[in-house]
Amino acid sequence: MKAFIFDLDGVIVSTDKFHYMAWKKMADEEGIYFDESINDRLRGVSRMDSLEIVLERSSKSYSASEKLLLADRKNEYYKQYLESLTEADRLPDVTETLSALRQKGYKLAIGSSSKNTPIILKKIGFEGYFDAVSDGNNIKKSKPDPEVFIKAAEYLGEKPKDCFVVEDAEAGIDAAVSGGFTAIGIGVASKYEKTQISLNKFSDLLNL
Ligand code: BG6
Ligand code: MG
Repeated sequence: MKAFIFDLDGVIVSTDKFHYMAWKKMADEEGIYFDESINDRLRGVSRMDSLEIVLERSSKSYSASEKLLLADRKNEYYKQYLESLTEADRLPDVTETLSALRQKGYKLAIGSSSKNTPIILKKIGFEGYFDAVSDGNNIKKSKPDPEVFIKAAEYLGEKPKDCFVVEDAEAGIDAAVSGGFTAIGIGVASKYEKTQISLNKFSDLLNL
């Protein structure tokens, strides 16, 4: 294996709680029921596809332009929460493990559905750190489509079969498997049936 492609939210950094808080605030304002288990279904899913899942519990139907406004409102709340993000929000073991993997000669990339990836990488002190970044700004189809990981592998100059993908989302594991990558799951995804390697903690990547 030549490279690791990491999902960002929930793998490298704990922004997932901010996504939850921002969706919750928007849903509460609209009188839509929303909880943590619905939030788990949004992991790895694009902003607009996430909105459709949130709206499953709405009694009102929204026009396409109203949906864009709802998604924008959620993103504004989310970006306000991101203001407080610092290096301390890198998840446990991430800093040391990434540097040890790089020393072993692996290339490191990000493969995230988020359009906020550049802002987040900057806030946590990882701007320019990864060998490649593929994110919501360079894809047409979001996870579970493999496009984001295929682009990351291309940017690295590697083939999918030579890359591990590390994910906390079921949609991300589906994307990795269908793209021909080896799918490593952490958190919620460590218990998913399609996950090929399950991690208890991030530093387990050093024992593969
Ligand atoms: C993923 C998150 O990384 O990015 C999803 O897991 C989120 O929950 C998606 O919906 C899109 O993020 P953004 O920042 O473009 O709204
Ligand atoms: Mg994630």
